[in-house]
Amino acid sequence: KYQAVRGRLLHFIAQDKPEYFNDGLLVTDADSGTVVACGEAAALLDQYPDISVTQYDNALIMPGLIDTHIHYPQVDVIASYGEQLLDWLNNYTFPTEVNFADPAVATDAAEFFLNELLKNGTTTALVFGTVHKGSVDAFFNVSEKLNTRMICGKVMMNRHAPQALCDSVESSVADTQELIDRWHGNGRQLYAITPRFAITSTEEQLVAAGQLLADNPGVYMQTHLAENLDEIAFVRELFPQRKSYLDVYDHYGLLGERSVFAHCVHLDDEDYQRMNETGSKISFCPTSNLFLGSGLFKLDNQPYPVEVSVATDVGGGTSFSMLQTMNEAYKICQLQGSKLSPLRAFYMMTLGNAKALSLDDKIGNFEAGKEADFVVFDLAGTDLMARRQSICKSLDETLFSLMILGDDRAVAETWVAANKVWSKEESH
Ligand code: GUN
Ligand code: FE
Repeated sequence: KYQAVRGRLLHFIAQDKPEYFNDGLLVTDADSGTVVACGEAAALLDQYPDISVTQYDNALIMPGLIDTHIHYPQVDVIASYGEQLLDWLNNYTFPTEVNFADPAVATDAAEFFLNELLKNGTTTALVFGTVHKGSVDAFFNVSEKLNTRMICGKVMMNRHAPQALCDSVESSVADTQELIDRWHGNGRQLYAITPRFAITSTEEQLVAAGQLLADNPGVYMQTHLAENLDEIAFVRELFPQRKSYLDVYDHYGLLGERSVFAHCVHLDDEDYQRMNETGSKISFCPTSNLFLGSGLFKLDNQPYPVEVSVATDVGGGTSFSMLQTMNEAYKICQLQGSKLSPLRAFYMMTLGNAKALSLDDKIGNFEAGKEADFVVFDLAGTDLMARRQSICKSLDETLFSLMILGDDRAVAETWVAANKVWSKEESH
């Protein structure tokens, strides 16, 4: 069953290759959940004369947004006062994650979390669970019902945390393998092996994580790296024989094209070289780095080119909105004398992040055959946005004011696999 949405439409064929239609049409197939065609409305309507068309005014249709680092159990940790990373973990985050031993708590949080993502136009994310196997089952069960493409993993952590949050080398391997077998490639769900960070895993557990990664081709690896100076000093104490924090992960075979390292605020040139050689990916988390006082990530002038994706890092981050995330990314660049252009920002949120997750053959733009996940931005989502948009003279200006002023109020609808799953109008 073919259907179409019509309005201003923007997607990226490649980096620096935006395709924009002032009067665009996106034709999708609700049965297969895929894109049939995308282009100028007048031309496409000739080809599909009988199709049902929904028209959007004051809107911008774009591929669903992608978030490459976020913690679903940390919804209730957002906006916790006063601490930097290690105290924030011990005082707020770990006590909250303990509650996820209860599957009812996990299911409730997963439902709230996925609704919040969709409300913000985010249709794919790389997500941390908790140490509990059931937290990941709860998450995937909710995602499966929505048919969202999600990547998630059970946290592996066996030291430097409350007893209730520590697994063992053996249980972490058994639980991870069981979850991979159950969920990886099951519908749209994918698995990520998830050692929390070097501080909370023994050498034996890191060895085991590397073995799991080697044994399960196609599975992802996600962790944290070089976020905070006290964290880095502690890692140096725990692993004195390693050259750097990154070298700890490298030593245990955790680098690679499907490995995503959150933060990377404090890397040296040699680290960048190893990231480059191994095709490893960075996840830049602007609102989190500012909120936790971690530092200013250098988006430009890398010593060796490494793919940088962008992410909210809720609950260290302060917003589910990728627009707000880009607002803060822009300011972090400003403080360092570089400019984040609006086209680059919208590329990063869509095709750029899809590429970083090796999912650009499936999502990230509107090429025929891709999975039809998309967002309809409301360019007049607030009075201020409407006023500002009315004087925008170019696409660049429209995009820039959207990413600076926009948040969930700027999302009219979100569609997953060619089905409407969230609507601002219907939620009121
Ligand atoms: N490092 C280890 N765990 C975490 C976490 O939950 N959030 C952030 N921001 N950094 C971490
Ligand atoms: Fe994080």
